[in-house]
Amino acid sequence: MINRTRRLRKTESIRRLVRENKLTIDDLIYPLFIEEGENIEKEIKSMPGIKRFSLDRISSELDEVSALDIPAVLLFGIPSEKDDTGTETWNDNGIVQQAIRFIKKNYPKLYVITDVCFCEYTSHGHCGVIHNKDVDNEATVVNLAKQTISHAKAGADMVAPSGMMDGTILAIREALDNTGFYDLPIMGYSVKYSSAFYGPFRDAADSAPTFGDRKTYQMDPSNRDEGMREATFDDMEGADILMVKPALSYLDIIRDLKNNFDRPIACYNVSGEYAMIKAAGEKGWIDEEAVMMESLLSMKRAGADIIITYFAKEVAKVLLKR
Ligand code: PBG
Repeated sequence: MINRTRRLRKTESIRRLVRENKLTIDDLIYPLFIEEGENIEKEIKSMPGIKRFSLDRISSELDEVSALDIPAVLLFGIPSEKDDTGTETWNDNGIVQQAIRFIKKNYPKLYVITDVCFCEYTSHGHCGVIHNKDVDNEATVVNLAKQTISHAKAGADMVAPSGMMDGTILAIREALDNTGFYDLPIMGYSVKYSSAFYGPFRDAADSAPTFGDRKTYQMDPSNRDEGMREATFDDMEGADILMVKPALSYLDIIRDLKNNFDRPIACYNVSGEYAMIKAAGEKGWIDEEAVMMESLLSMKRAGADIIITYFAKEVAKVLLKR
C-alpha cells in the first residue's frame, strides 16, 4: 500500500515527532474576578473552582498562578457601587486600579491585562452610556479612553477593551500615546459574538443587562464575513493582538484571523464552555481532564496563539505532570 497513514502513528515516540500542535503553559491567560470589600472568597456556583476574591484574600490564588508559571492574568473588577455611566471605572483608586498596583508590587513578573468595559459597573448592566435605550457609541468611547488611562497609570501591562464599540482601538491608542504610554499594547476583543455562552460570567461578574440584550453592539453568531471586517478595523486601528470570543463554537473564525492577519491571535474560552465541561465531568459523563485538554488543543489547532481560560491552572498542572 503506497499511502498508509498508520505508519506514523505506531508508537508514542513517532507520534511525538510528527505532532503538529502543542498546548503549552506559555499560551495561557487566567481571568480573575476581584471584588471590592474585605474578606471575600466566594465560589461562583456556575463555574466550579472559580471564585470572586477581595484583594486581602487573593494572595494564595496569585501564589498558585505564579508557581505554575502562568504568564498573565486578565482582571475583572466588581465594584461596590454602580451608576448610570460606570464612572467608578476611571477612579484611580477603584478596585481594578488597586488590584493592578497590588499585583505589580507583589508579583512583578506576572503580566497584568485589564478588561476595559462597563457592564460590571453600570446599574443597567450594559457596556456603556445609554441614550434612547441603546448604548451610545461615541459617549462610551470617550469614557473607555478615561478608563484605559486610569488602568495605565496604575501600572497595567496591557489593556483589553471588550465592549464592541466602533472606533475603540483608535481612540484608546491615541489616548495612550498622548499620555506617554506608547509601549502599552492593546488586545482587541475584535470578533466578539452576542453569545449565550457568557451566561455564567454574568453571574460571576454581576453584569447581566437589566433590559434588552447586547445584540446592537456584539456580533450576530450567524456572521463570518463580518468577523473579518471587525478584525480588519481593529488591525488598522492598531490593535496589537486580535481576539475571537467565544472560542469553541467559533473555531472557524479563529482560523480566518490566523490566515489573514499578521498579528498574534487570541481566543477566549468563555464561562459557558468551562461550565459545560465541569458539569459533565461532575456527573461522570465525560473524562473531564481529557476533554479539557482536547478542547483547548482544538483552539491551538484552529490558530490561536493565546488562550484566555478559566482552566489555566488545571491545564498547567496537567502539562507539568507530563
Ligand atoms: C464584558 C465581558 C463579558 C465577558 C468578558 N467580558 C460578558 C459579556 O459580554 O456579557 C464574558 C466572559 C465569559 O463568559 O467568560 N465586559
